[in-house]
Amino acid sequence: MQTVKLNNGVEIPILGFGTYQITDPKEVEQAVFEAIQTGYRHIDTAQSYMNEEAVGRGISKAGVPREELFITTKIWVENTSYEGVQRSFQRSLDRLELGYIDLLLLHQPYNDVYGAWKAMEELQKAGKIRAIGISNFAVDRAIDLAEFNEAVPQINQIEINPFNQQVKNIAALREEGIMPEAWAPFAEGKNNIFQNETLKKIGKKCNKSVAQVIVRWLVEQNIIVLAKSVKPERMAENIDVFDFSLTDEDKTAIARLNEGESQFFSHADPSIIKWMASRKLDV
Ligand SMILES: NC(=O)c1ccc[n+]([C@@H]2O[C@H](COP(=O)([O-])OP(=O)(O)OC[C@H]3O[C@@H](n4cnc5c(N)ncnc54)[C@H](OP(=O)(O)O)[C@@H]3O)[C@@H](O)[C@H]2O)c1
Repeated sequence: MQTVKLNNGVEIPILGFGTYQITDPKEVEQAVFEAIQTGYRHIDTAQSYMNEEAVGRGISKAGVPREELFITTKIWVENTSYEGVQRSFQRSLDRLELGYIDLLLLHQPYNDVYGAWKAMEELQKAGKIRAIGISNFAVDRAIDLAEFNEAVPQINQIEINPFNQQVKNIAALREEGIMPEAWAPFAEGKNNIFQNETLKKIGKKCNKSVAQVIVRWLVEQNIIVLAKSVKPERMAENIDVFDFSLTDEDKTAIARLNEGESQFFSHADPSIIKWMASRKLDV
């Protein structure tokens, strides 16, 4: 699997397996097991997905050496503080039954981000986390964090898909040394993405599916991609993207699909911030 080198030298597989909205413990365990069997070596979970234990069981069942895997989890909003990270990071490790995490992210740009970041820097220095980063941070907040702390975030995990391409934001993150990582590369199927005529036409020409065209489009931009599916045939489809390339014409056509806004919601919307703050998950 192709990797991307982060600003601290750690290498991350460019394609990861997402586990959001897989909640039934048996289904989670099976999906993670199948994904690893299919060839995924990078798994993305979060405290708020409430599935870390089952993800851990899937990892253990797959029996692949720990050092071959790249595991990410994320600190939920209620734990975004110095003490919150210290306490809840250990709980995540225990649930996943792992001795260290490859990538720990602050899931949302709310609460005591600076305090949380200090605790993450310390855990990284102590060898408990290989890479630290953020998620859903607007570029100004990401750069603020990078400029006023010792560690520059290794990653900002944000929504990136053909309808929300984030071109300027990605360039600004890269300039700061922060790697972009795409969540919802398929926009979770919104806006009829799998039936999009432009993507279908490119797929037909390359003998690939719409999903494969999207993953390939991200990989070619050196953007780390997280793809989620509970179906083994789709897991295999989504990873089978390293034997074709897009032409300049294809990329120009995909560039035209950009609507320049989220397919979900804005992280700057006051009602969203209040909703996230109210989600007390005790994780
Ligand atoms: N940091 C954050 O705030 C954040 C937010 C959202 C997501 N994420 C991470 O990013 C990962 C990916 O995002 P996502 O899960 O939201 O959405 P996504 O990967 O864009 O889309 C997943 C949806 O697409 C379907 N799908 C997958 N492959 C397909 C294919 N080849 N053909 C047709 N349909 C296909 C899946 O259905 P089936 O499962 O039925 O196949 C599922 O409904 C998450 O799982 C999570 O790890 C992070």
